[in-house]
Amino acid sequence: MTMKGNFPIEKLKQIQTPFYYYDTALLRQTLEVVKKESEQYGYNVHYAVKANANAKLLKIIASYGLGADCVSGNEVQAAVDAGFAPSKIVFAGVGKTDWEINLALDNNIFCFNAESMPELEVINELAGAKGKKAKIELRINPNVDAHTHHYITTGLNENKFGFNLEDIDKVLNLMSTLKNLELIGVHFHIGSQITDFSSFQDLCVRVNELQDDFEAKNIKLKNINIGGGLGISYEHPNHFPIADFETYFRLFNKNLKLRDGQVLHCEPGRSVVAQCGSLITKVTYIKQGTSKKFAIVDAGMTDLIRPALYQAYHRIENITSNQQEDVYDVVGPICESSDVFQKEVNMNGTQRGDLIALRSAGAYGEIMASRYNLRNLPTGYLSEEL
Ligand code: LLP
Repeated sequence: MTMKGNFPIEKLKQIQTPFYYYDTALLRQTLEVVKKESEQYGYNVHYAVKANANAKLLKIIASYGLGADCVSGNEVQAAVDAGFAPSKIVFAGVGKTDWEINLALDNNIFCFNAESMPELEVINELAGAKGKKAKIELRINPNVDAHTHHYITTGLNENKFGFNLEDIDKVLNLMSTLKNLELIGVHFHIGSQITDFSSFQDLCVRVNELQDDFEAKNIKLKNINIGGGLGISYEHPNHFPIADFETYFRLFNKNLKLRDGQVLHCEPGRSVVAQCGSLITKVTYIKQGTSKKFAIVDAGMTDLIRPALYQAYHRIENITSNQQEDVYDVVGPICESSDVFQKEVNMNGTQRGDLIALRSAGAYGEIMASRYNLRNLPTGYLSEEL
């Protein structure tokens, strides 16, 4: 069998492009590392389903005993269907609707990560109607700069997520009147694709301060949830196929002062699934412009929107050519000028029919696909099934 890198080329050639290809051996290795590095400190990991909700991948992730972090009723349902224990499901989101809250209550999930006072009131009411007590973590906006793209920074003051620090007293007052709620912890999330670990250190400082405040108010928090955000190497997926979970968990163990019996929770998404996935696309045409060559491929921003939406970089490789390198603008077929995967890509000499891999696309790839231009949604294939 011909392999280039880790790609089973002959098998991939049989599949209708564009599609997502998931290297499940890498996913499993990643999950082993997540488990080993988190379990030594007793941390609870909830996979952020929003990163990739492919049912087959969810099943694999659930089989490693992880919990799930969900942001919609459908995600809660998908997590339950995939075998995640409801007792390990957390549910965040600023706009949880009644049916979504009811679904979560019916499934007896671990907790709601609540983001506003009106939401607390509604959860209280709906839980009461079922004769249940809903467990709540308050999502607090810690005002920590994640040093990442502004679209995916969420922990700075005055955005739609979470409670601001100065409102905490008001929130606690309200909580004390809502009899169908139980405060079990606090939740933070400062942003995504964080590679500057000092942001996580800043978060620890803020959480420690906040813990002192809660203690002064005589409030015991059983759980501290630090959200997700651990970044990956988009530049060098071959050299850094697994995110640095070791340093990440060690940092929290060293800097975050957990009280007796307190449990730390986290919600990694990208770092679990990004590197195992590639978007595989076929070259439709090579178009010679006046000063450049365009490789027009059959995938577009509808299949992988990250470059168009966040100017995100994905490494691009021609996996079926060994010809001398040349320079191409790799573009999709969508009628939008932002439908460019990357300009001036160095890749092996490319012809119509070649297969191109857009790497590190396992997170926020397939799940963010759309049907714009009435295109088909891409299918995901697992290496272990081919
Ligand atoms: N927890 C919460 C509350 C979140 O909002 C997120 C991501 C996560 C966990 C997981 O974060 P991760 O470990 O994946 O960084 N579509 C964007 C990313 C949006 C992230 C939104 N929240 C992208 O393609 O880069």
